[in-house]
Amino acid sequence: MITTERLRLRRPVAADAEAIFARYASDPDVTKFVGWPQHQLVEHSRGFVLWSDSEWEKWPAGPYLIESLDDGGVLGSTGLSFESPTSALTGYVIAKDAWGLGYATEALAAMTSLASDLGVRELAAVCHPDHRPSQRVLEKGGFSLSSKRVPTVFPNLDPNRSVDAFKYVY
Ligand SMILES: CC(C)(COP(=O)(O)OP(=O)(O)OC[C@H]1O[C@@H](n2cnc3c(N)ncnc32)[C@H](O)[C@@H]1OP(=O)(O)O)[C@@H](O)C(=O)NCCC(=O)NCCS
Repeated sequence: MITTERLRLRRPVAADAEAIFARYASDPDVTKFVGWPQHQLVEHSRGFVLWSDSEWEKWPAGPYLIESLDDGGVLGSTGLSFESPTSALTGYVIAKDAWGLGYATEALAAMTSLASDLGVRELAAVCHPDHRPSQRVLEKGGFSLSSKRVPTVFPNLDPNRSVDAFKYVY
């Protein structure tokens, strides 16, 4: 578990599936620019927790649920997705009613610090070229835009088309 000024970040558990579904994973506005299909059923959020468990079993860290320290409510999720013991990707999703409060930036700082503690030497994030808020969060978090583009499918925009996504490196 990680605590920041306003947030608690922790590994998701099965009992979180309903809150994950209701707070962000089923919201079309929140999931527009993410790399996974919007959840249509709470079953899909249960599937996410199972996948998260498999990541945590394989690697020193995995997905984190973001909660408010103030009232314990679910605010979103973040995490590290390892490609090797020294290379990982990060990302973040915040519930719509909590946008614009700096939570993504605060969660990202926790992830860069965690990555460094765990010996990650290459930390990157991939984001859609049109998604300015996310690019701004990465810039504020000390990431720079790489010249590399990463062909990525954004399933909630068009599941049949690959977009040359921006790669940001820390
Ligand atoms: C992107 C997202 C995580 C940002 O979360 P957040 O907690 O609102 O982010 P923060 O408040 O920390 O910072 C947002 C920054 O983007 C800026 N911003 C917002 N809209 C913007 C726009 N249209 N153009 C440029 N900058 C914009 C804000 O002004 C702020 O920067 P500032 O502090 O310099 O003013 C949130 O909108 C979200 O969850 N979106 C849906 C999920 C998603 O797409 N995740 C990213 C996948 S790569």
